[in-house]
Amino acid sequence: MSALQKTLFSQHKSAHLLDRATSHARHYLLTADSLPAFPSNESLNKLDCFNDSLPEEIGDAQQIIELLAKTGGENTVHYSGGRYYGFVNGGALPIGTAARIIADVWDQNAALYVMSPIAAKLEDVVQAWLCQLFNVPTGTVAGLVGGTSVASLCGLAAARYRQLSKLNWNVSEKGLFGAPNLRVVMGKQTHGTVIKMLSLLGFGQQHIEWIDCDEQGRLLVGELPKLDHSCIVVLQAGNVCSGAFDDFRQILPLAKKAGAWVHVDGAFGLWAAASKAFSHLTDSVELADSWSVDGHKTLNTPYDCGIILCADQQALTHALHQQGSYIQSSDARDSMIYTPDMSRRAKGIELWACLKFLGKKGISDLVELLHQHACYFAASATKSGFEVLNDVVFNQVMLSCENDEITQETLKQIQGSGVCWCGEASWNGRAIIRISICSWATTQEDIDISISEFVRARDDATYVINQ
Ligand SMILES: Cc1ncc(COP(=O)(O)O)c(C=O)c1O
Repeated sequence: MSALQKTLFSQHKSAHLLDRATSHARHYLLTADSLPAFPSNESLNKLDCFNDSLPEEIGDAQQIIELLAKTGGENTVHYSGGRYYGFVNGGALPIGTAARIIADVWDQNAALYVMSPIAAKLEDVVQAWLCQLFNVPTGTVAGLVGGTSVASLCGLAAARYRQLSKLNWNVSEKGLFGAPNLRVVMGKQTHGTVIKMLSLLGFGQQHIEWIDCDEQGRLLVGELPKLDHSCIVVLQAGNVCSGAFDDFRQILPLAKKAGAWVHVDGAFGLWAAASKAFSHLTDSVELADSWSVDGHKTLNTPYDCGIILCADQQALTHALHQQGSYIQSSDARDSMIYTPDMSRRAKGIELWACLKFLGKKGISDLVELLHQHACYFAASATKSGFEVLNDVVFNQVMLSCENDEITQETLKQIQGSGVCWCGEASWNGRAIIRISICSWATTQEDIDISISEFVRARDDATYVINQ
């Protein structure tokens, strides 16, 4: 046995390393409340200790874990606390983290049934549950990918396959050179990841038929061009800044009648369908052909949980088609036929655990809780003299101060405070502070503390700018 193998076997058998890792993980979670929302400059300077060259020799595993846990942990952005409102980064549910630890120890590859029957079984189960929650047609299939970006790539690849096949062109065999033209129609507020994925699929930005949006970011239905069966229409359930939903009830029947393929980017907003109180926002969304959504946003699974749902199984599997004499297919679920990747972590395990734990009631409660907190944030901010720029329909709040300069300086002060963290954007030409309430851990008390910090930051910003 080689020296390396001896070392590895002794680590493997003793479980000491794993115990140290779980003990650090427990400590991180228990002391989470005292962590700043974003690391201090003093902590960030310590990151320089990672700047060493690649070691020549085999190292000390325990020391490596200690370094990672201490200096690494101090420099994490604290999503697991209740005062992180940046981007749309939900905090992980404890059940999801726990299930993921088990899944990581199992070290399963979810590509094929023969590689992991448990991964295949749980993906099959979550597929059925997700279809039920989102009320999408029977026969809809789900693939699990890294995030909504890749999920949209899958949906749009299926769209390209199906729409070209209607024009007697098999894109998997013939490629794009000489292919009939497809039309892509979408609102000017479509998320940047969709634009990126379209360009990967050969649809440049100049080729897109852009539709104007209203002041909330909803596509203007009256501006839609005449659609036909060469069209791919992209709609949105939840604008990343305003939270607005496109009008599915008006657009979808019209698009379907014309033979267009409709893909819905529902990264965080598709979860509205899982709550009675919010399902009006996704009314008719089930008429679409494909949907992309994240577990790691509104559902609060750990990261790396994007989901593509596609009602046209054949289009998805033909678009993501792969061959190889060594690929051993089975009659059970072979998940790689629904995703661009082959080897893949068994991310269905923690998704299953979160869905199983919350159940329909828990999911609905979580969806409603996040939005109630967004409304509370907006109301408190208004009382404290901030302007709320959007109709708060789902989790997102856009705030501004009396002018752009003060808004931007206020945001800088908030981001540097460690009390809470939120991001920036511009909306209809104005600088905004973006708030996304997407963690189960946010409480009203967190919001009260955050609003006090906002007021302090604005006072300081006003002083700095008016000096
Ligand atoms: C509407 C929308 N689409 C797509 C994405 C990208 O999702 P992901 O980061 O999981 O790829 C986001 C991220 O916030 C989003 O809000």
